[in-house]
Amino acid sequence: MSFSILGTGKAVPEYILSNDKLSTMVETTDEWIRTRTGIHNRRIITTETMTELCVSAAKQALEDAEITAGDLDLIICATMKGMYITPSEACVIQKELGASCPAFDVNAACSGFIYAMDVADGFFARGKIKHALIVAFDNLSNMVDWNDRSTCVLFGDGGGAVVLGEGDGLKSIFLTARGNTDVLYAPRGELTSPFETHKGERPVLHMIGQEVYKFAVTNMVRGVRKVVKDAGLEQKDITHMIPHQANIRIIEAAAAKLDIPKENYVINISEYGNTSAGCIPLALDEINKAGKLKKGDYIGMCAFGAGLTTGSCIIQWNK
Ligand code: UT7
Repeated sequence: MSFSILGTGKAVPEYILSNDKLSTMVETTDEWIRTRTGIHNRRIITTETMTELCVSAAKQALEDAEITAGDLDLIICATMKGMYITPSEACVIQKELGASCPAFDVNAACSGFIYAMDVADGFFARGKIKHALIVAFDNLSNMVDWNDRSTCVLFGDGGGAVVLGEGDGLKSIFLTARGNTDVLYAPRGELTSPFETHKGERPVLHMIGQEVYKFAVTNMVRGVRKVVKDAGLEQKDITHMIPHQANIRIIEAAAAKLDIPKENYVINISEYGNTSAGCIPLALDEINKAGKLKKGDYIGMCAFGAGLTTGSCIIQWNK
């Protein structure tokens, strides 16, 4: 027994940071950002907290699933950095929801949502749980160097949540990791120990964009082909393809090598930029709430990110 998705939610901060506004902060232009990435705006946390947004997404997903926090048997938060080093963001969410189940975080960077679903699948398969909540949220505005135009224009804050229940919605899932600390990383930051002798680096995101770009295209194509085959489907059967929203050119380059109809891609990068682990559940909630999902639809999901990690899966919509 695996799971089906019972409900979805999303949360983004109110403040919209446009390309034009960014052009007053670093040496860039709306035209460069739009043509190189497809991003027009991104949301940035100002007065809200990450936890408030995560809890909001979680409550929407619970309502959509028609269950209460007391029905939850597991909470996983996919994030690179919660509000605290410890406790985990999932424990903070659990406290705010008034739930009493086990809770922990998964850090697989932008692939975190798919990693979290694979972890949850194990709990369902072992018969340990009936309902799980996954919240995927990253607060990258708090991690980028706002003087570095090659990274700060790409990211935004946001995320989403899903409630999972016993079912056979998950058709296939595939994770990979290739350990790498050069092309995409953020150091831990200042050291507080008087004993450690090496120096801590500033905890901002570093990226060799073109290396990540090549990795992304190759591995999106590989991942999607594999999960479609493992699910016993053909690519044309995928009614909604939700790729990680890192760069429209990455999505288009991968799509050109796949046989999924172009109109079946779910793309919202222009309004939110790259929200890391948050991208896929955020987009999923938008198509769910827009009434675009029909019972029986096959949803493809594919993400890549620091690690370097990737995650791909096929889920049948059973609601
Ligand atoms: O979730 C995973 C996270 N990351 C990614 O997925 C990122 C993957 N990589 C990419 O999306 C692209 O590589 C970028 C959008 C990061 C960069 O696009 P690119 O077409 O690969 O540009 P580039 O790095 O080759 O840079 C071209 C030029 C450079 O100037 P010179 O050396 O040609 O004079 C950059 O300095 O563009 C310059 N540049 C900018 N110019 C204006 C870099 N950032 C900016 C900027 N505005 N914001």
